Amino acid sequence: MLILGIDTSCDDTSAAVVESGTTIISNIISSQTDIHKQYGGIVPELASRRHIEMIWPVVDEAMKTAGISYTDLACISVCRGPGLIGSLLVGCSFAKALCYAKNIPLVAVNHLEGHIFSPFLEKTKPDYPFIALIVSGGHTCLYRVEGFGEYVELGRTRDDAAGEAYDKVSKLLGLGYPGGPVIDNLARKGNARAIDFPRAYLPESLDFSFSGLKTAVLNFVKSEISSSNYPSPLRGEGKGEGDIPHVINDISASFQAAVVDVLVRKTEWAIRKERIRRLTLSGGVAANSELRMRTQEMADERGVELFMPSLSLCTDNAAMIAAAGFHHFKAGNLAGLDLNPVAYLPL
Ligand code: KG4
Ligand code: ZN
Repeated sequence: MLILGIDTSCDDTSAAVVESGTTIISNIISSQTDIHKQYGGIVPELASRRHIEMIWPVVDEAMKTAGISYTDLACISVCRGPGLIGSLLVGCSFAKALCYAKNIPLVAVNHLEGHIFSPFLEKTKPDYPFIALIVSGGHTCLYRVEGFGEYVELGRTRDDAAGEAYDKVSKLLGLGYPGGPVIDNLARKGNARAIDFPRAYLPESLDFSFSGLKTAVLNFVKSEISSSNYPSPLRGEGKGEGDIPHVINDISASFQAAVVDVLVRKTEWAIRKERIRRLTLSGGVAANSELRMRTQEMADERGVELFMPSLSLCTDNAAMIAAAGFHHFKAGNLAGLDLNPVAYLPL
């Protein structure tokens, strides 16, 4: 059963053809990083305009790479939220028009559900039930997943998402957008014990909080760097990789250690509390090298089976939307052509 997935929830235009919810035939992603990086973050209006330009070429390429025609499709699966409303509108309108013109059924998928199903696109797939940690630019949450459509939220961020904290810290350090990969890279050269940034463990809760950490980094930067003689990217100096002073590497490593400590510890609590020894890690921040390593170590120590999608399936992609859409289609959960995207859409 072939499904065309479409995701335009944020700043990537993506289309993919997936067979039976598990096998990727094509997965095309057109990134908008070059457009947004000069502003230090996503500009929603520019994002939706670029989606309009790219949606047709990206879908066309996904179909051509798969070597199939529209009559081969069982359905089209589109992400309807959560995300930027102007961006979501492009994908949803395009999917509806295509379904109408080609007489193809439509299914609508929650973006978070897509992240939950991304590990099923890998060779080794989790059985139910499992604990899912989703860490992205917009979300940081833990779920107990008992089957398709059976998601119990165990915890969520009370303020910033982990990826958002990476992006904001990167911006205040003058390191550019998106912050996650840059900080991940610089952290390798820094000392994670150099600065003791706070970890918000929120006792008795599986919720997260990262805004205090972000403020601590800001305060450190204000008091320790801005007044010093460091050639700081903050003052527009030393933009080249080799020019980045050691203190920036140390801030990156220490910040990352604080984020990863909390994510891994909370996930460990969830595993113990729920008595489930199966774990998935997905979302853009799941591409982080330190988080992957530390989660693997924790899983090995506790005898937990860990399923992490490859890096390109952690960040936004339409293959995961097709993977989740497969289950909606099988359950007969079709969407009408009156489908509207929703910016805030809890799972
Ligand atoms: O899942 P995703 O592509 O989009 C959302 O649904 O939000 O996640 C994007 C987020 C960004 O905040 C980006 O900085 C972060 O994932 N990210 C990373 C890494 N790669 C991407 N964060 C930490 N380390 C990385 N290697
Ligand atoms: Zn995402």
